[in-house]
Amino acid sequence: MPLKNDLLLRTIRGEQTERTPVWLMRQAGRILPEYRAVRDELSSFIELVQTPERAAEVTIQPVDLLGVDAAIIFSDILVIPEAMGLPYEMVENKGPYFPQTIRTENDLKKLRVADISENLAYTPEAIRLVKQELDGRVPVIGFAGAPWTIFAYMVEGTGSKTFSKARAMLYNRADMAHQLLQMITDSTIAYLKAQIQAGADLVQIFDSWAGILPAAHYHHFSLPYIAQICKAITSVPVTVFAKGAYASLPDMRSLACQTIGLDWNMDIAEARKVIGPDKTLQGNLDPAALYADFATIKKLTTDMLNAFGPRRYIANLGHGVYPDIDPDKVRCFIDTVKEHRHH
Ligand code: CP3
Repeated sequence: MPLKNDLLLRTIRGEQTERTPVWLMRQAGRILPEYRAVRDELSSFIELVQTPERAAEVTIQPVDLLGVDAAIIFSDILVIPEAMGLPYEMVENKGPYFPQTIRTENDLKKLRVADISENLAYTPEAIRLVKQELDGRVPVIGFAGAPWTIFAYMVEGTGSKTFSKARAMLYNRADMAHQLLQMITDSTIAYLKAQIQAGADLVQIFDSWAGILPAAHYHHFSLPYIAQICKAITSVPVTVFAKGAYASLPDMRSLACQTIGLDWNMDIAEARKVIGPDKTLQGNLDPAALYADFATIKKLTTDMLNAFGPRRYIANLGHGVYPDIDPDKVRCFIDTVKEHRHH
């Protein structure tokens, strides 16, 4: 099925396009009342993730209701630990919780490399349904967490400001850390390939907790595993979003990925200089800017578009959209991008 709107893919290839493509991290869910309605019909977030028909429905909502240039499949990065044998719960208004965690050799022995067709078929199935339903209207983005970020949740057991238990393991049991990171990496490669097989037009790797590691640890415990994933995915473009990985930006230039996501603290001109001209950049408006009035959102969005320039650039926020943002403010951001022309 050829895409009717392939702005995003042409931009990733470095082609000149009629305008800048735009989508938002975490656009599927939370901000839309229409998402809440579907969510309230089901008993839990996890049930929604595991029900392909409903997951497909909320994936398409932002395409219809906000006018974005891509759909991102509705799922979560924590489906990987679950498929490896470490189930999670999603505590309402609090976030993820793992009843068991990985702290010892014995914990590690209970894990397996994920068998996607056995334990994680629901997300590829949801992608198949989304592709059918969208009929080429926009590309579909598949995704996974970066191994370091998944590791952080599996060891810590919950979200955390410091992830101190996860970081402790890097100092005390580097051997165990590498074993676990490699199992996560192998699982993630199989998972992304299954998403691509199901029709994902590109994939994004979220390293949400990149910023809590010192540069040497990021270099040692995160980047090599992201590099393995990028090398293994050859049939569609890959985007790497490593939040807070400032010191490692120069190393990201040599990753076999086409796009680098920037968070809102990263300087646009500096990032372009460090990454060079051969990759597409994505980002990076402060998600809190969408609390501003409409005129301010327009101005900040226009400034961002001018700073990135017309080529090799995908407009987005610098992290996921916050749940309490007014959808009309999101529309203002999107419409400003769509109306902008570079002179
Ligand atoms: O981008 C999209 O719209 C697709 C869906 C998506 C979800 N999670 C659905 C979700 C994506 C891409 C994710 C990724 C994800 N999940 C990340 C990486 C991106 C980032 O924000 O850094 C992380 C760290 C997680 C883990 C996670 N899932 C947390 C910490 C939480 C609780 C806090 C929160 O963000 O709401 C979740 C829950 C979650 N994942 C919700 C949604 C829609 C909200 C739960 C609900 O609707 O009941």
